[in-house]
Amino acid sequence: MKKRIAILPGDGIGPEVCESATKVLNEIGRLYNHEFDFVYGDLGGVAIDKTGSPLPEETLSICKSSDAVLLGAVGGPKWDTLPGHQRPEQGLLGLRKQLELFANLRPVTIYDSLAEASPLKDEIIEGVDLLIVRELTGGIYFGEPRERRGEGEQETAVDTLVYSRQEVERIVRKGFEFAQERRGHLTSVDKANVLESSRLWREIVDEVAKDYPEVTYSHMLVDNAAMQLIRNPRQFDVVVTENMFGDILSDEASMITGSLGMLPSASMSANGPGLFEPIHGSAPDIAGKGIANPLATLSSLTMMLTFAFKLPNEAQALQEAINTVLEKGYRTADLTKDATDALSTNEMTQRVIEALNEKT
Ligand code: NAI
Ligand code: MG
Repeated sequence: MKKRIAILPGDGIGPEVCESATKVLNEIGRLYNHEFDFVYGDLGGVAIDKTGSPLPEETLSICKSSDAVLLGAVGGPKWDTLPGHQRPEQGLLGLRKQLELFANLRPVTIYDSLAEASPLKDEIIEGVDLLIVRELTGGIYFGEPRERRGEGEQETAVDTLVYSRQEVERIVRKGFEFAQERRGHLTSVDKANVLESSRLWREIVDEVAKDYPEVTYSHMLVDNAAMQLIRNPRQFDVVVTENMFGDILSDEASMITGSLGMLPSASMSANGPGLFEPIHGSAPDIAGKGIANPLATLSSLTMMLTFAFKLPNEAQALQEAINTVLEKGYRTADLTKDATDALSTNEMTQRVIEALNEKT
């Protein structure tokens, strides 16, 4: 199989974890006889420095002509003083919008070998395996009008939470589809006791559910969901929710594991390329030191192999290689208290490549 992958390293540790990813992809290509071509584009702060724009046209066209996009991370203190619409994050928001990445997938799984990293008790996190499906291109982050009105004592600010039937239906269908492939339960999270958009959301969930009779589903109010994620995260299989609720709940859910450097994400569109990225940011405090944990990015590759390339065997081999290195006790600095034993980004990457070779 021949695939073209747009690589957007971005800022901070982004280039370091992307280098790890390309090495691993090359190895998977060699082992399984695939050809992965990499095309590099600038996004975020690095793009602002070069072109003045956080999302240059060239980057967008590289992404559109690729089969998948891998992103490191964007942002850092260097660009923090820029006005809102010129900041690195705008590059990422623009890319999501332009590629119509309406479905953001954030799996939350516990690696038994890392259970001690979680702030929650063992008996609560044991066996947690959930997937948050977040709507990514609608809702209050994009609704119009959004503006300031008046001055002084009279000043007000407006954001608009708007969802169309079509926007809700396509994300809800995704939720049901994933639930069907997984353990067969979907939790739809909303605020239907207060918000009209949530009442529409709920109606549509009830309608779409008829097409997935083998999936059991329930509605949950978002404030309760925030509590249940901490109280009993094992009750969840797939969670589907709108943009802002998903933003907040997925960060909360990521803390269940306690290891930010481990968690991947994918953002999918209806037809175009998907975007795969670690959930962590650019980690300016450790950038350039060669000590970033590459496993969240490598885990994002398993999602790319699964969802973009339909290569489940390769994805599983990579996931098992990640499990193996952790079981063998290999740790980057963020995963260990004993810093003298910590592996560099390169060393961890090499261990994963060795584990891939042991399996095949
Ligand atoms: P962060 O995720 O970059 O870092 C939080 C802490 O976790 C830091 O101590 C960092 O060293 C550590 N960390 C994160 N990833 C790691 C890894 N792979 N290996 C080892 N340690 C890791 O979040 P923070 O500090 O809030 O944001 C830093 C910058 O990143 C900001 O400019 C922010 O806007 C940006 N950011 C970008 C995101 C993206 O591109 N998707 C997402 C989140 C933040
Ligand atoms: Mg990210």
